[in-house]
Amino acid sequence: MSSVVKNNVMNEALSRECLSEDVVNGSTNGHRPPPLESLGINAISILDYVGNTPLFKFCSLTRHLQNVEVYAKAEYLNPGGSVKDRAALSMILKGEREGTLTRDKTILDSTSGNTGIAYAMIGAARGYKIKLVMPGNVSVERKNIVRMYGAEVVLSDPLKGSDGAIELAREIYAAEPDKYFKPDQYNNEANSLAHYNGTGPEIWSQTRGRVTHFLATIGTSGTLMGTGRFLKEQSSDIQIVAVEPDSPMHGIEGLKHMASSIQPGIYHPETHDSKIPAPTEEAYEMQARLAREEGIFVGFSAAAAVWASLTLADQLEAQGQKAVIVTILCDRGDRYLTQLSMLNGY
Ligand SMILES: Cc1ncc(COP(=O)(O)O)c(C=O)c1O
Repeated sequence: MSSVVKNNVMNEALSRECLSEDVVNGSTNGHRPPPLESLGINAISILDYVGNTPLFKFCSLTRHLQNVEVYAKAEYLNPGGSVKDRAALSMILKGEREGTLTRDKTILDSTSGNTGIAYAMIGAARGYKIKLVMPGNVSVERKNIVRMYGAEVVLSDPLKGSDGAIELAREIYAAEPDKYFKPDQYNNEANSLAHYNGTGPEIWSQTRGRVTHFLATIGTSGTLMGTGRFLKEQSSDIQIVAVEPDSPMHGIEGLKHMASSIQPGIYHPETHDSKIPAPTEEAYEMQARLAREEGIFVGFSAAAAVWASLTLADQLEAQGQKAVIVTILCDRGDRYLTQLSMLNGY
């Protein structure tokens, strides 16, 4: 038996042991009947818990609105704490299915943090070594979380941001290509497919097809591309809106200012109808308001998405339009405690 075939057999066995068939077959929709049910045990694996997140309605922040409803997918409730669990699981399972990810390989990628945490969690659960290239200025919490899962961290030049991490990961891979499996989240369509197969259908069914506007921030663009494409296929009237930092020098971790960045291969600008530029200060302010007025403690990019959604909601309300706006709460706020201490002086 060749080593690729042998490893595929091993991967297959591991897949059957821990995951429901749907997940193994590439759908990361989550929360299915427990795969361990046949053993008489009412439990599911941590990876079966990826996806199928609740949709929250804002109660306090939207009190002044009569015609416009605003909702958010609580992606921070994924087991790794962010929306990136979906993409990471989708790319790793695709690698296993296609035989490019085998037991002997180390998973290597550049990540501003959340994808790294997702790889590290999934790698630990499925027995892979993980090496992550992160910009040197990524939050202390993120570095420490991935180390807790057993991942190796390589820091790139903080001044070069996520593009510096992309370049360094490429160099490490080029030096020893046989050693690594590089999911390449910026160019791997399995990233956006996780949202086409998961996030999009969930939003469609959770709003009973009433969604009129979908807003998402852009890191790799996977969330916006996959969800946007699915929703457009249900109704071309649904408006897909990209939320971007308003300048290249911004403080919203995880996000790209597209005009001044390397454009991801999976980014297809025709998927979105418009863009809303989000100022860093508005995101910071909204983060505090979400925690204090809604009891929702999320990261800066989630806050930027909510700020943009409420800004759009106010515009539509002023025009007397009815609308159902849905956005994404990308990650948890406790991932940024050190930055928050510095910003707020406590
Ligand atoms: C905090 C945060 N928000 C938003 C995003 C954007 O997600 P996507 O990569 O799907 O565009 C990311 C991506 O890494 C992120 O880390």
